[in-house]
Amino acid sequence: MVWSALKRIFFQLDAEAVHHLSIRVLALLGKSSWSRSMVTFLGPRVSSGKKNPVRVPRMKNLNFQNRIGLAAGFDKNGEVLPILPAFGFGFAEIGTVTPRPQPGNPRPRLFRVPEKEILFNRMGFNNLGAELVALGLKRVRESGVLPPDFRVGVNLGKNKDTSAEESAQDYRLGARAFEGLVDYFVINVSSPNTPGLRSLQTVDALNPIVLGVNEEMRLWKNTPPLFLKLAPELTETQLKDLFSQGNRWGLSGWVLSNTLAGQHQGGSGGWSGKILTERSRELLKFARGHTDLGIISVGGIDSPEEANLRLELGADLVQVYSGWIFNGPYFPGRIAQTLN
Ligand SMILES: Cc1cc2nc3c(=O)[nH]c(=O)nc-3n(C[C@H](O)[C@H](O)[C@H](O)COP(=O)(O)O)c2cc1C
Repeated sequence: MVWSALKRIFFQLDAEAVHHLSIRVLALLGKSSWSRSMVTFLGPRVSSGKKNPVRVPRMKNLNFQNRIGLAAGFDKNGEVLPILPAFGFGFAEIGTVTPRPQPGNPRPRLFRVPEKEILFNRMGFNNLGAELVALGLKRVRESGVLPPDFRVGVNLGKNKDTSAEESAQDYRLGARAFEGLVDYFVINVSSPNTPGLRSLQTVDALNPIVLGVNEEMRLWKNTPPLFLKLAPELTETQLKDLFSQGNRWGLSGWVLSNTLAGQHQGGSGGWSGKILTERSRELLKFARGHTDLGIISVGGIDSPEEANLRLELGADLVQVYSGWIFNGPYFPGRIAQTLN
């Protein structure tokens, strides 16, 4: 009810302006223990049995507060982490983070199609850069506000002006900044909004990238699980090629998937939300038949039933972005209530 009314107002305003406002409000709510408790109190009750963390064997046996996470791209700089558990999230993926800060594409670059519950974006990896984001994450960790089993993944990308040949160094530098701070990494080679990025989704192009990140983590005390985030357009042959390398690369798994490339409002970008539900399910089914590694299923999860279905189809974890926007702030909590 309250959300429907608020949504009617928010959806009259520019999508990115509302996003920045939301980030400010969420960051503010995360600052005091009083407001964090209030937000938790007002949300759906998660019964005590379901408060127990889940162990995820395919993610190096890490415990997760629950299996529902915030997808990459909402909290690009890790500014709202402290409040996310209060809305019911069990983990969050921050980023995409690039080694150097960058402004992203010119505005307008984020659009909604409310009647279809889909979003379109061509943000272009706007972020503060790995060093600043890592510093922020360090502060959050040190403040002790995150529940011990609330996991934080970092999604890594390359700067727009880094050539394809030099991209391995960008992923490596990005990873370097997060030593000791991150629970899992995602190598993102599937955003449609960085020219040439998607062409890195081949075994040959990924070899130096994955090896570089692994080499960077070699001497770390704990090596976080490493995932690859792929595009929904990949063919079965392309997917099989990549899946067959997963073990050799030492990957923990796959994030399936990123946005669907397309055109809207005079420019190219990526579609997300309900438009992806069917495709994302199919990808998951195909992947589960061809890889034993972990799978984080994301794309068009629009109900607790859909989240549960993804887990039944073999996902280890699920994430939402668009579903959070269209179904309201306690959507993750409502999903968490229904998960085992
Ligand atoms: C505005 C916006 C920005 C996004 N930015 C990123 C990003 O920086 N990195 C990334 O890997 N995915 C990004 N995504 C993709 C989401 O993480 C997710 O894969 C996709 O939206 C599908 O999930 P959904 O249908 O629940 O939204 C973005 C999505 C949206 C809508």
